[in-house]
This record gives sequence, C-alpha cells and structure tokens, in this order.
Amino acid sequence: MATAPLPERERAPMMEKLVSLAKRRGFFFQSSEIYGGLQGFWDFGPLGVTLRNNIKRAWWRAIVELRDDVVGIETSLIMNPRTWVASGHVKNFTDPLVECKKCHQRFRADQVKGNRHEEDGGEFTEPRQFNLMFKTFVGPAEDSSAQAYLRPETAQGMFVDFANVLSSTRMRPPFGIAQVGKAFRNEITPGNSIFRLREFELMELEYFVPPAEEMKWLEYWKDERMRWHQGIGIRPDKLRLRPHGKDELAHYALGAFDVEYEFPFGWSELEGIAARGEYDLRAHQEASGRDLSYFDDIKRERYIPHVVEPALGVDRSMLTVLIDAYHEEEVRGEQRVVLRFHPSIAPIQVAILPLSRKEPLMATAQRVEHELRPHFRTEYDDTQSIGKRYRRQDEIGTPYAITIDFETANDQAATLRARDAMTQDRIPLGHLREALRERLHADKEA
Ligand code: GAP
Repeated sequence: MATAPLPERERAPMMEKLVSLAKRRGFFFQSSEIYGGLQGFWDFGPLGVTLRNNIKRAWWRAIVELRDDVVGIETSLIMNPRTWVASGHVKNFTDPLVECKKCHQRFRADQVKGNRHEEDGGEFTEPRQFNLMFKTFVGPAEDSSAQAYLRPETAQGMFVDFANVLSSTRMRPPFGIAQVGKAFRNEITPGNSIFRLREFELMELEYFVPPAEEMKWLEYWKDERMRWHQGIGIRPDKLRLRPHGKDELAHYALGAFDVEYEFPFGWSELEGIAARGEYDLRAHQEASGRDLSYFDDIKRERYIPHVVEPALGVDRSMLTVLIDAYHEEEVRGEQRVVLRFHPSIAPIQVAILPLSRKEPLMATAQRVEHELRPHFRTEYDDTQSIGKRYRRQDEIGTPYAITIDFETANDQAATLRARDAMTQDRIPLGHLREALRERLHADKEA
C-alpha cells in the first residue's frame, strides 16, 4: 500500500524553482526516475555530490581534524539486531500511523490536521504505532532469527564501539567519537524534496563527558554548532535555537535543542543537539554484559560517561545551503538567478571561459585551467554565448569566472568576473592564481 505525501502547508513556489534548478543543473533528482521514482529516495548529480562532499569535509574538518579531543570512526550499516533492542529502537522508534477509510492513504496521525482528508470529513482508522526501521535478512534463511535492520542513525555505532575506541586510543573524557554515514528510516510522509528522506546521510558526534559536566558541554556544543552553520555561509538571521519542551524530551534526556532554519515552508529542524545522559552506554552495558564504564585514574573514580550529541543530516544541510544561497535579481532589466555559495563549499570555484572557440583563445584557456586546477575547483567551458555561460555559472554558484578574449594574446591578461558584485578586473595571466587566492580568502572571511 502506497503512502501519500501531505499536501504541504502552502507549497512555496521558491521550493519548486529550486527543485527545478537542482534537476536542470545536476544537483539532485528523483532516484530511479525513469521508472517513476521512489518516494523518499533521491540521487545526487555531479554538482550535488561535490557540494555534499564539501559540506561533509567542512564538518569533518571542524569536528575531527581541527580538534584533539575527537576521533572518527566508520561502522557498519547493518549491526547485530540486539543493538536496536538495547537502544530502545525496536520498541520506541515509531510514529503513529492512521489510514483514511475512504481512499486508504496513510498518514502520520500528528500531521493530519489541516489535511484535506480531515476537512472532507474523511474518517481515519485508530492510530497504530508504526516502526520506522527498515527490515532485512542476513544470510540465506528468511526467518525471524535472521532478521536485521538497516540503521536508522549512526549513533549506536559509536556507543557499541565505545570500549574499542577507548582501549585503542589515548582518549579520555571529555572526548568525542564522530561518524558520517548513511541512515534509513521508513518515514510515513517523506517530502519537501530532500528535507525528509527514507535514505539519508548523517554527520553525528557523540561527546562523552564526566556526569557533572553534561550541561556545560551542551551549552558549548550548541554555540559551536550555530557558529559552524554560519561558517559555511548560512545567514545568521535565518538560524535560531529552539529548546525542546518537557513533552518533547526523551525520558532520559537532560535537555535538547534544535538548530532551526527558516525554510520556505516555515521554521524547521536543521540539526538536533541533545544531552542524553548515561542512557545509551548503560543500556548497552546491561544488554551486552560488557563493561562500558570509564575509570578516571587521577580522581580514582569509575563512572559511565554522559553523552552530548550534535546530529546533522547531510541532505538537510545541503538543502539549507541551497535555499540560503538562492537569489533572484534584476540586472539591467534582466532577471538573473544566482546561488551565493560560500567559496569554501561552492562546487566550482572558478570557471575558465574562452570568449570564442578560435585559437589561440582555446589553447590559452585550457593552459590557464590546467594551471589553476591543482589549486581550485575549476571548470572549463567553451560552449554557447558568453552571456549564457555567465548565467550558468551564476546559477551553479561559481564565485569567479576568467574570460580569455581576443586581447589576451596581446596583453597576456584575462578578465576576472566576480559572481556577486559582477565586477570585471583585468588580471595578468601570471597573477591569476594569486588574485583568486586573495579574493576567495577575503570572501571566506567576509
Ligand atoms: N542520533 C540522533 C538522531 O538521529 P534525529 O533528530 O533523529 O537525531 C538528526 O536526526 C538529524 O538528522 C536531523 O536534525 C536532520 O538534520 C536529519 N534527519 C533526520 N531524519 C531525517 C530524514 N528522514 N531525512 C533527512 N534528514 C533527516
């Protein structure tokens, strides 16, 4: 039985434009589209995968590489199913599901308000709890003893491997274990393009701390994470922190915040930051019989570390970056669409464009591109008119374009065009690399 997406609150025209741009330019498109797609699954095109990699790299750099208190791991997507019993997912990782008695479409019970089915006086079945974990079988026998789950989060990998990381590194609390990887949730109502997916990617940090320091670290990480989003270019006035109400908190949680972004469909969760207490490690210690405590040999005390967890979806961060960068402007009576990506994550940083396909323009442009390629993310393009090529580079968010023109052979210089200010500077070919480095650096700091 197929589930139906909710008629989203006012479907924002901006989202439609963005999804169309994403497809036209190769950021993302429906998975297996030639077969009609599959709801909640999306593919990433050449620009999309570069943008994602840049976001993941920025996260990994800030969370793991630039710190001495966090290590990274990568754990399997399918784990011993006892993991999910101990973590509480088998019992509690559910959403209330209702079915319209007329058309048999299924909805999340908490989302039927305002739904046209409700307005039509449609009747719904009583809600039943629907577990969001995808099931599969390990090995050739498809019986219950072989049943396993695709992980709905990466976090449990960090808890289950806690003792292995502790004994194989010199880490001691406060310290963190980070992971980037795919997760799967059989969401009842995926939607808003890549906002809510059934297959998505998570960037999670489990930060293990002495029990008395938990709230201090929650404060620390919420500031740190707000700063990170701004560091990849998200406008500060579009971000806010929302503390969870008592009714939203898991029974074991001491506190939690959502980093929210003002999406075209309203303020919604971008990232979750939670103080999880000792819940996870204690649950796995009890279920596995393995000791997951830490002995502090200076204070001579043993405790189960508490956990502060910032968890961000790669896809959700990517959608935020795209929405935040999207601008429509009028330039000399013409409309232009421009993605104002931060230069650190822009899929292409500099485009090299020969004004015509004549020699020596092409050879010079190719040589310039070849020289710049090791230092920047470059693209060479000699198709279409120069106006169309600029428009394309604006639409894919390339901060700079270098045009090799008929003068270049005489003055050994090229035009450097800035995406945002649309200024054009004449730069000697030999200085292009330095000029770009300076400008990209200045943009990053701005
Ligand atoms: N281990 C904690 C955890 O998984 P979560 O709040 O369920 O927490 C964290 O998810 C983040 O993952 C969310 O803030 C969002 O960025 C992203 N996320 C969650 N469900 C998602 C989905 N169905 N599609 C895309 N991203 C999702």
